[in-house]
Amino acid sequence: MMKPSTLICSVAFGIFASSTGWTVENGDLPTAVTTKREMVVTANPLATAAGAHILKIGGTATDAMIAVQTVLGLVEPQSSGLGGGAFIVYYDAAANRTITVDAREKAPAAATEDRFVGAGGFTNAWQSGLSVGVPGVPRMLEYMHDRYGHLPWQRLFVPAKVLAEKGYPLTERTSDQVAGLLAANPSCAEGERLFFRDPTAFEYFADPADCTARPAGTLMRNLAYAKTLKALARWGADAFYQGPIAGEIAQAVQGDLNIPGDMTTEDLHNYQVVVREPVCKTYQGYQVCGMGPPSSGGLAVGQILGLMEHRPDLMGDDPLAVETVHLFTQAGRLAFADRNQYVGDSDFVPVPVAGMLDDSYLAERAALITEVDMGTAEPGDPPGAVGPGAPDNTVKLSGTTHVAIVDRYGNALSMTTTIESSFGNGVMVRGFLLNNELTDFAFSPTDNQGNLVANRVEPNKRPRSSMSPTIVFDADGRVALVTGSPGGSRIIGYTAQSIVNVIDFGLDPQEAINVPHYMNRNGRTDIEEPIPGVTLEYDAQALADALISKGHSVGIIEQNSGLSMIQVKEHEHPGPGNRKHRGKDKRSQRLLIGGADYRRDGTVGGR
Ligand code: GLY
Repeated sequence: MMKPSTLICSVAFGIFASSTGWTVENGDLPTAVTTKREMVVTANPLATAAGAHILKIGGTATDAMIAVQTVLGLVEPQSSGLGGGAFIVYYDAAANRTITVDAREKAPAAATEDRFVGAGGFTNAWQSGLSVGVPGVPRMLEYMHDRYGHLPWQRLFVPAKVLAEKGYPLTERTSDQVAGLLAANPSCAEGERLFFRDPTAFEYFADPADCTARPAGTLMRNLAYAKTLKALARWGADAFYQGPIAGEIAQAVQGDLNIPGDMTTEDLHNYQVVVREPVCKTYQGYQVCGMGPPSSGGLAVGQILGLMEHRPDLMGDDPLAVETVHLFTQAGRLAFADRNQYVGDSDFVPVPVAGMLDDSYLAERAALITEVDMGTAEPGDPPGAVGPGAPDNTVKLSGTTHVAIVDRYGNALSMTTTIESSFGNGVMVRGFLLNNELTDFAFSPTDNQGNLVANRVEPNKRPRSSMSPTIVFDADGRVALVTGSPGGSRIIGYTAQSIVNVIDFGLDPQEAINVPHYMNRNGRTDIEEPIPGVTLEYDAQALADALISKGHSVGIIEQNSGLSMIQVKEHEHPGPGNRKHRGKDKRSQRLLIGGADYRRDGTVGGR
C-alpha cells in the first residue's frame, strides 16, 4: 500500500529566479516537483502517498481524494476529518465542466440566532456542544464517488484502515499543537480541562499520567477509527448519518461536558451536500474559479485579483516589492469590507455574487486605492446588494488543510477541508474528532442599530467560510493551476497571493509558496517573518518600514499557510511519426508542476 517510491519530494539548493528576471540568492529552499501523468499534493506525506498510490492503480482524482481525506483524518486529525466539512472545486474533463461541491457543516434545526449570546465568550463557545455543525465530509465522499469515482468504493478506505490498525508515527506538528492546547487549560484535572475535556480524546493525544502531549514519533493506533472506516466502506455514508454512529455523535454533542448542544440524529439523517456553480473571475486572461457562498473565498479572492488588475499603475516589479505589497493589501482591505458585510449562506440571505465581481464596480472600488494606506475600508454598494445590513468582522483562527489533485484523465480537484480550529471542539466519537465550525457564524445576530448580520445563526444554515479551493483556467479553457490553503480568514490572502505569484511574476508553484506572505484583512497589515530553509530570506523590517512610510500599521508575524498547488502546462508537439505524419498526429504533452508548503508537512506525489 504505502510505497515510498511513489512519494516525490525534493529540497534542493537553488537560486530563486523568476521568468521576469527577478533573482534572489536564497540558499537551500524547496524546489518544485514535476510529473507527466498525475499528481497529488497534501499537507502530510502518508496522505500524499495514499493518494499517489490510488492514482497509480488507475484511480481518478476523486478516488485519490477519498483515500487522502480518510488518511488525513487519522494522521493530521487536528485539521480535518469525518466529523468536519469541506468544499471542492472539481473540473470534470469528460464533461468539460466545473462544479463546486458544498459539504459545509450545518446548524442543527433547533439553532436560534442568539445561540452564542451568553455562551461565555468565544473560547468557551468554541469548546462546547453549541459549536458542532452537522458534518458534511462522509456524505461528500459518497456523492463524489457515485459520480466521479472509478475504483471500487471499499478499496479507497484500505490505506487509512491499515494505518489506523497498524499505527502511524505522531508528527511533531500534531504533538506540539496538543501541548499548546493542554497548556492553555487552567488545570489538567478531569472536569477542569476545557481543551481535551473529553476523556477519550485526552487519553488518545496525551499521557494522562502527567498530562503531557504524546511525543512526536509515538506509534498511534486508532482502532475505533478503523472500525468506523469499515462501516463506511461496507454500508456507505448512511452508516455515519443513521444508526449507532449518528446516535453517538448526537449523544456526544448533547452531553458535552462544557455546554450541551442540540444536534439530533434527525439533523444527521437530513444532511445533504449541495452542488453549486463556481464563482469565476477573469484575471490577466485567465479564468479563476472558486467556491461561492456560503464561502466568502471565491468572492474575496476574485475581488482582490480584480481590484489589482484595475491598478497596474500601482503594481511592483516583484512579489516582495513594497508597491506589490501595498496594492495587494489595499485590495485586501476592500475585499474584506465587502465580504464581512455581504457574505453569508446564500440559501438564507441574498448575496450580491455577480455584483461583487462586476468589472465596473471593481473599477470604482479600485479607484479608492492611492499611494498611501486607505485605513479601514467601508463596504461598497455592489449591484444587487440588499441593505442595510451589519458586518461580521470577526477574525477567525486557523485550522483546516488543502488537497490538490490532477489525474491522468485530465480531471482536477481542489479541496479545502476542515474541522475549524485545531482539534475541532476536542471531542472524539468513534475515532474521529467533532468540528467546532458553527463558531464561523457571527456571535451576535445584529449590530447596535438592530441591523441584521448576513452571517447570523439560523436553523439549518451553513456558516460563512473563508475556504478558497481554486482552479485557474487558461485562455483556451484548460486547467492551468490548482491551488488553495488552510489558515482561517488568512486563507483568502494566501490563495490570492499564490495566484499572483504564478500569473503576474511567472513563479512555479514551489517558488510561489516559498515567497513570504503578506495581507490585510481590513485592519493591520501583516507580513511574514522569514523561515530559514522554508521561505525566501528577505529584510522584513525594511519592508515594514517602507509600508509604515505609506501609512500602514504593520505586524511581522509567524504565519501558518499550508498551500498545495499544481500547475498544469500543456503543449502540443508533433507525433512520433516521420515527416509525412508530422502535424497530422499532434500529441498534447502535459507537465505537472507541484508545490507543497514546508511551513507544514506538505508533500507532492505522483508520476
Ligand atoms: N473554518 C475555516 C473556514 O471555513 O473558513
